[in-house]
Amino acid sequence: MAEQRLQKILAAAGIDSRRKCEELILEGAVEVNNKTVDRLPAFADPEKDVIKVNGRKIHFEQKEYFLLNKPKGVICTNSDPEGRRKAIDLVPIDKRIFCVGRLDAETTGIIILTNDSELSNKLTHPKFGLSKTYVAGIKGEISAAQVEKLKKGVWLAEGKTGRASVKVIRHGHQESIIEISIKQGLNRQVRRTLAGVGLPVKSLRRTKIGRITDRGLGIGQFRKLTAAEIAYLKK
Ligand code: URA
Repeated sequence: MAEQRLQKILAAAGIDSRRKCEELILEGAVEVNNKTVDRLPAFADPEKDVIKVNGRKIHFEQKEYFLLNKPKGVICTNSDPEGRRKAIDLVPIDKRIFCVGRLDAETTGIIILTNDSELSNKLTHPKFGLSKTYVAGIKGEISAAQVEKLKKGVWLAEGKTGRASVKVIRHGHQESIIEISIKQGLNRQVRRTLAGVGLPVKSLRRTKIGRITDRGLGIGQFRKLTAAEIAYLKK
C-alpha cells in the first residue's frame, strides 16, 4: 500500500475523526517506527510502518455498517452532557461506531452507524448529493402553492435550499402527510423548510437514505447493511 496521510490512517483505524487525529499528531501522541511525529503533513505506509498512539500500536478494525430505526428522544452524538439515550447505545458492539450525519432527537427513522470515517465523510459531503426522504405529519392542510414553493427551494438563514421532490400522501383538514426528498443536510432542514412555507410539523420520520429504506425495521430495531448496500454507498 502506498504512503497515506497519517491522520487518514489513524481515522481509518477507528482512533477518531481525521481532525481529532491531526490534533493527536500535533500533541506528540503519535509515533511512526518509534519516532514521534508531531508535524503536519505527515505520511506513513499502514502496511509497512509501525504506528503507535500514546504508546499503543494501532490495529485496523474491520469496518461495521448498521442501519438503525431511531426512536424519539434518542440523540445522534457520541457524548451527551445531559445523559440522554444515544443511538450508539441501541447498537451494542465492542467497537467505537458513530452516526453518519444526524437526526434531531424528536425525529424518528433510519440512520447509518459505522466506524468507517471515510465513508461517513463522503456520505455527509453535499458534493455527493445523497438523497434523503422524510415523511412529515403536518398540522392542517397543504396547498398546491406550498408544494410548489417546497419543490423550488426555500430561503433559510444559510441561503436557498436545493430543489426537493415532494408528494402529498394525505390531504386532510386537521392533519396532512407529505413526503419530501432532499439532497442537502443542513441542521433541521426539513423542519425549517416546512416552517418556511407555513407548514407546522407534528412528526418527522426518515424513510430512505438513497435507495436504502426502512422496510422491515421497527422503531428501535437495527440491522447490518448488506454487502450490496455498502457497495452502493461507497459508489
Ligand atoms: N431535517 C430535520 O428537520 N430534522 C431531521 O432530523 C432531519 C432533517
